[in-house]
Amino acid sequence: MEMTRSNLWVALVVGILPLVGWLLWWWNDFWYALPMMINLRRHSSGGGAKLPPGYMGIPFFGEMLTFLWYFKLLRRPDDFINSKRQRYGDGEGLYRTHLFGSPAIIACTPSSNKFILQTDCSFPIEWPSVEIMGATSLVAVHGASHTRIRSFEAQKVTFANIGMFFASIEPGPVLDTLDVLFINLLAGFRAYPLNFPGTAFHRALKSRKMAVAIFREEMEKRKKFGVSSGKNDLMEGLMQMKDEEGKQLSETEILDNIVSLVVAGYTSTSLAIMWAFYYLAKYPDVLQKLREPAKAGTYLVFGGGSRICAGNMLARLQISILLHHLVVGYRWELVNPKAGMVYLSHPKPADDLVVHITKI
Ligand code: HEM
Repeated sequence: MEMTRSNLWVALVVGILPLVGWLLWWWNDFWYALPMMINLRRHSSGGGAKLPPGYMGIPFFGEMLTFLWYFKLLRRPDDFINSKRQRYGDGEGLYRTHLFGSPAIIACTPSSNKFILQTDCSFPIEWPSVEIMGATSLVAVHGASHTRIRSFEAQKVTFANIGMFFASIEPGPVLDTLDVLFINLLAGFRAYPLNFPGTAFHRALKSRKMAVAIFREEMEKRKKFGVSSGKNDLMEGLMQMKDEEGKQLSETEILDNIVSLVVAGYTSTSLAIMWAFYYLAKYPDVLQKLREPAKAGTYLVFGGGSRICAGNMLARLQISILLHHLVVGYRWELVNPKAGMVYLSHPKPADDLVVHITKI
């Protein structure tokens, strides 16, 4: 009896445990990739279509632990991609994976990115979680709803008065609160979508709710004092907007779009400006490079296709004005030139870029 029991344990350790380990290791590939591969083989007549190479990781986490290893611990995000290039070859610059709770394809060459951005009928853009941006915001909706809001916002965002164009909120305590709320919101933006107390995602959702409440209060004030408040800002524009049937946007659509535009517009531009400060201080020759025209086809910083950045003209304008004044009127140096980098939720120097500026 004793013998049989120990044999059983040996069999378990030698046979079953490695099998379970192997199954778990390949679980996501079996679950997501295998059925697709079989489907593609069955339906592609010339055998042309195939799934990109890659590894989709273990259940639930996918490749998230490897991702965090490279991004958070090693602080060498490029090596996450390099490790794939080494293992699977350069190929088309496409690798399958599983990140932030969703099966995903990484596209890491300019040509593959351009192809995907410009054929978005075949690659509808989906966010792993739209709750932070808002399910009815421009970035989350598709087709006619996307075109409807987009046609309006593109005009408004590119040509609107730069000052307080979101909701005419003057500098002061409310704006300061919004600033903190949006910092929290952004921290959850590239976090695993786990919604329970203590997670960055949970804090982001809570902060979003509070930010929405501030914008809602402003919207209700406007409604109470008549349709037009006389303000020429995004909130007013969204409140007035009608489609061909004369239907207005719902309150949720208005609020979702304001939140998503603050996220899309505010951080991206401030980070771009921060990097300009950083590189111009560190490498004066970068200034020269800035003046050279960008190489066609590789300059995809604003995306492409029907979802090309709605604020790209505004961002270019803001950045050029700032850079112009900076370069001709000031000199500046990094207070901590050796500061390390952090890469999540967005890449930036660990000291948030402290610079010492003097007027020339
Ligand atoms: C340097 C600054 C900026 C950069 C690098 C940038 C980059 C991008 C990129 C790459 C996309 C495409 C995302 C995708 O394909 O899903 C995008 C979309 C978008 N951006 Fe920007 N952006 C910047 C500034 C702004 C500003 C200032 C605004 C508005 C005030 C803005 C509003 C938007 C919106 C609304 C979208 C979504 C468009 C859609 O889904 O149709 N961005 N941005």
